[in-house]
Amino acid sequence: MIAHAGVYTEIVARIREIFGQEGFIPLHEPRFWGNERKYVLDAIDSTFVSSVGEYVNRFEAEICAITGASHAIATVNGTAALHIALRLAGVAPGDEVLTQALTFVATANAIQYCGAESVFLDVDRNTLGLSPVSVEAFLEGSTIRDARGRVVNRRTGRRIAACVPMHTFGHPGRIDVLVEVCDRWGIPVVEDAAESIGSTYVGRMTGTFGRLGIYSFNGNKTVTCGGGGAIVTDDEALAKRAKHVTTTAKVPHAWEFRHDDVGYNYRLPNLNAALACAQLEQLAAFVERKRWLAGEYARLFAEVGVTFVTEPPGARSNYWLNAVILPDRDARDEFLRVTNAAQVMTRPIWRLMNELPMYADCEIDGLENSRWLEERVVNIPSSVVPKE
Ligand SMILES: Cc1ncc(COP(=O)(O)O)c(C=O)c1O
Repeated sequence: MIAHAGVYTEIVARIREIFGQEGFIPLHEPRFWGNERKYVLDAIDSTFVSSVGEYVNRFEAEICAITGASHAIATVNGTAALHIALRLAGVAPGDEVLTQALTFVATANAIQYCGAESVFLDVDRNTLGLSPVSVEAFLEGSTIRDARGRVVNRRTGRRIAACVPMHTFGHPGRIDVLVEVCDRWGIPVVEDAAESIGSTYVGRMTGTFGRLGIYSFNGNKTVTCGGGGAIVTDDEALAKRAKHVTTTAKVPHAWEFRHDDVGYNYRLPNLNAALACAQLEQLAAFVERKRWLAGEYARLFAEVGVTFVTEPPGARSNYWLNAVILPDRDARDEFLRVTNAAQVMTRPIWRLMNELPMYADCEIDGLENSRWLEERVVNIPSSVVPKE
């Protein structure tokens, strides 16, 4: 253990050099280098600060332009976006949804909001994303088709209603293969692309492979509007429905209040959308700078003999959160201790979802890669840094 300490101190010094920064270096802080003030003041001056306004419409159009999706619906955050996307994919109380154990808690929470249960499956070690092999193995080994042709869990008798892969830290998972597997079983894919705006896989934006996809614009993401999210889909009917249920299911009328469903107050306020529009103008430049930082890290960690997580084949990652893989749990803990004591913020990857008390009874597969990664992966400072 002690043998590592010198290397970790060297890493701290090199990270400080890259960031050109004394004092505390956070994991990820936002950069407001563009039209943020101008657009937010403009929204205030317009008096349209709430859920109606030109910036919300512009934000949605920008998301379509950037991602190539036909439709985008702005929401208050990524969790709300995922909740609605799952409902629109048909997830209902009593259903089950396949997802990865190695994810941020919001993925599992959104499934639970629908009254459904998560089935936590393993990830690929090289992508950190849901393994198509794990999904296929579960479908082959643990499900049957019922009399109505639905795929049901043999053990619980519950329908498998959807599959939610997540692109961990911005690195695309093997989403094309996963969609192909799920298509064969007639299971809709809802992509949790909360972390991966701007990342492509085989030349296509993450979030646009599934029936629906979602993004987050939380303060810690590559681009932010404080709190915000978006649903994307190529299905016009689903897009209309998404807009309707996220705006309290109000039937359009000049003065009357009529609501035809139990809707949600999930629409992104114009004030946040103004900030989002300014940030989206810088997305491409931010991704370039994050990729430059990842290149610096790759060089540094190769020199000191620590594994740095890089984009998988076929992917162009936004490198939202950079990560290293330490040799074992002890080395990880020592790395966390040395770096945080030196005011360079680092953080272990999430606990597996099935280890959290509210999801402890959910079904799992062997989770071999997830457990291996959980013990070793640590995130390191990843804010956009100027190149010069
Ligand atoms: C994988 C994942 N899913 C969902 C979310 C939820 O997004 P939000 O914080 O905007 O609700 C986040 C981020 O916070 C996330 O990292």
